[in-house]
Order: sequence, then structure tokens, then C-alpha cells
Amino acid sequence: MKSSKYNRRKFLSTAAASAAGGVFVNSTVHFSAVQAQTNLLLSGQDNKSEYLFADGLTYLNTGTLGPCRRETVRESMKMWEELESLPLKFYGLWGAESLAEKTRTVAAQFLGCDLSEMLITTSTTNGMNAVAQGLRLKPGDRILLTDQEHSGGLSCWRYYAKYYGAVIDTVAIPKVENNHEAILERIKKSVTEKTRLISVSHVFSSTGLRMPIAEISALARSKGILCIVDGAQAAGAIKVNVKELGCHAYATSGHKWLMGPKGTGLLYLSKDAQDIIRPMQFDESYNTYNNGNGVVNLACILGLGKALEYLESVGINKVEKHNLSLQNRLSEKLRNISRLKIVSPPAGQFASPMLACVLPDAVDRVAFVKMLFEKHKLSIRATHKEFGFNGIRFCTHIFNTEKEVDFAAEVLHKELT
Ligand SMILES: Cc1ncc(COP(=O)(O)O)c(C=O)c1O
Repeated sequence: MKSSKYNRRKFLSTAAASAAGGVFVNSTVHFSAVQAQTNLLLSGQDNKSEYLFADGLTYLNTGTLGPCRRETVRESMKMWEELESLPLKFYGLWGAESLAEKTRTVAAQFLGCDLSEMLITTSTTNGMNAVAQGLRLKPGDRILLTDQEHSGGLSCWRYYAKYYGAVIDTVAIPKVENNHEAILERIKKSVTEKTRLISVSHVFSSTGLRMPIAEISALARSKGILCIVDGAQAAGAIKVNVKELGCHAYATSGHKWLMGPKGTGLLYLSKDAQDIIRPMQFDESYNTYNNGNGVVNLACILGLGKALEYLESVGINKVEKHNLSLQNRLSEKLRNISRLKIVSPPAGQFASPMLACVLPDAVDRVAFVKMLFEKHKLSIRATHKEFGFNGIRFCTHIFNTEKEVDFAAEVLHKELT
């Protein structure tokens, strides 16, 4: 591969040229090119030239932030440059509204809901905040969470507890248990007369455990309470169909597994919850541009649309299969490192494309991850200390290959044995 500097410069000049000259790619040609790359990828070959990764980087960190493909960046850059040629272009009279709605339409299709149930946000946290802000909980109302929630899906409820007197109940989900019945039973036991909602992650960012959302939603519905889902680590990583899940709200990030621009997100609000959850900025309309929302980042929103189209063209079932098979391969290769304890579920219904392991106490996880990056150009994550273990986390996505997973395993063997 040529140097990343070269690629970057070449890419930027191509993006600028297409923006200036209005070069449009024939969509049939474009689609077959994507298909060709995808076939290569699914047969285990590298398609890194479609991305802007630095040379030699092994990126197993999508759960933190995903990469944008070149064509996604190009789409955003094209729009951004066009916007700056007349700053108010596309606003009001110029039709920004309908352009942004294109992304909303693709997003609704991707998550399996109606357009009237889909909102564009800036992150998972932003979506969760919109849900919480749109509720009117009273002092003493209870909110049921797990002890594995990320701050992005948690801080909105903490705010409610701090300023509005709501009470948070927390269900402990022991690591390595990986048992849906036991989890459900614990959640069921924790629902009280005062519980107004259950708010849980679809996939835990701590261990990668896939939660039984359909069953939790059914439980919530049977009790007449809401099920709110933090889908930051699920949408784009595994198949997500919000109707099949049956939840009332589902917030996710554009900038992780969906591989959209940073600062984008999606929020699903089911029709039957829209009178109960009324986010201020979307009170008049769920359109991206509306009087309550103000100006949005159109360039990034269009990039998100492009990223979603790519995942649609590959097919989310294929993406999930690829991601899980790499996760499983890595898990097999790390299993025999005695100083590493895998806490993610084994292959099967509980697994996701995230693999978390516990390091010995003597190893500082943050320093270890930094060393891996500096010495081996391997990017993985040190898990949050709030999750209660000295952990590291690997994420495998559509652009990753068996070769990269094998390299990561080799490096871990070298550094820990
Ligand atoms: C489960 C979970 N929720 C929320 C977030 C926050 O995502 P965002 O930065 O898009 O708000 C993360 C980020 O890692 C996460 O893992």
C-alpha cells in the first residue's frame, strides 16, 4: 500500500475536484464497485484502500470510534465545500431539509422502522438525553438499570435522580454468567410498582454480552412500563431490527459501528411511545431541520446516509457473520494465554463482535494498551474502570481481516507469555 500521506493527499484532491467540478459517479457502476470490494472482503482479503487508516495500523477499536470509508468522507466533503460556496445554501429555500431527510429515510429502513419513528441526533448520549428530557418522571418514580451501563446511557438518568427526585435501581449482571434466563429473572424481580422504565444496553460495552432485549421489552410492556435501549455497541455490528426487539426507544451512534462521521447518531421512538416521550427539540416535528432543533451538520448527516447505504449494500447479516467469526477466531487464539481471562460470551446467541479480557492486577491496562499502540501499531481499548475489572477490549468489524486478528493474537502472546 502507498504511504498514508500520499493516499490522504490524493484523496483530498479528488474530493476537492469532485466538489468543484460536480463529478457524479454513475450509481450502477458505483454499486458494482462496492459489491466487488465486499466480495473480496468477505472472502477474507484486505480492502483497506477504501479507508484512510495510517500505514501499518491494526484497528480493533470500532466500539470506541469507527472509521469512515473514503466515500463517506468524500460525500461529506463534497457537501461541505458546496455549502461554503454560499453559506446559507441548502438552508430554507435551498432544500437542506429534503437532503437531510434522505438520511433519515435510509436510517429508518436500516433499523426496520417507519420514517415517522426515526430521528437524527449527534450521538447515543444525545439520543438518550432526548428520551430522558422528553419524559416527565415524578419524585419517587423508579428507573431500572443494570450495573454495566455506559455513562452515555446512564448520565441522563443520574440527572433525573439528582434534580427531579427519581430513584435509580441497579440490577447486577455478574461477568461470565452469560445466561439470559438468569438476567431476565433478576430484572423481573427488580421491577416494582414504582418502576417507570427499564433502560439497558443492547450490547454491553464492558464484556460485549448481547442482552435479551426482545424479552426485556416484552416484560416492560407486560408491566405497562417503558423499555429504553442504548444501542451504541449494536447497530452496524449486528443485525438490529427495532420492531423485532419491541422496545419503545433505541438510541445509537453514527460514529461507531455504522462508520458514519463523528458527531452523528440515530434515535428510534416507537409510535406508541411518542405521546409519552416528547423531546423538546423534536416536539414540532421529527424532521432533522425543524424549528425546535436549529441548524444541523448537514455534511456529516449526508455522510451518515452514505455509510448506511454501504452497510445496506453489503447486508447486515453478512456483516454480523463476518464480525462474529473474527471475534470467535480471536477468542480461540487468546484462550491459551494463562495471564488473560476472557470474560466475553463464547460463540452463540450471547456473543457480539466485542471481546473483553481481564489482565492480571499487576498489569496497568491503560499503559498496556498504550504500549501495544506505540510498539505494534495495534489499537485496542482499555475498558472503563467503573465496570469493575482490569480489562482490555477488541472489536472486529467489516474492514478487519483474519490476518489482523492473527497479528493481534501474536502480539498478545508475545507481550504476556
Ligand atoms: C454502551 C454505550 N453507550 C453509549 C456510549 C456513548 O456513545 P456516544 O459517544 O455516541 O454518545 C458508548 C460509547 O462507547 C457505549 O459503549
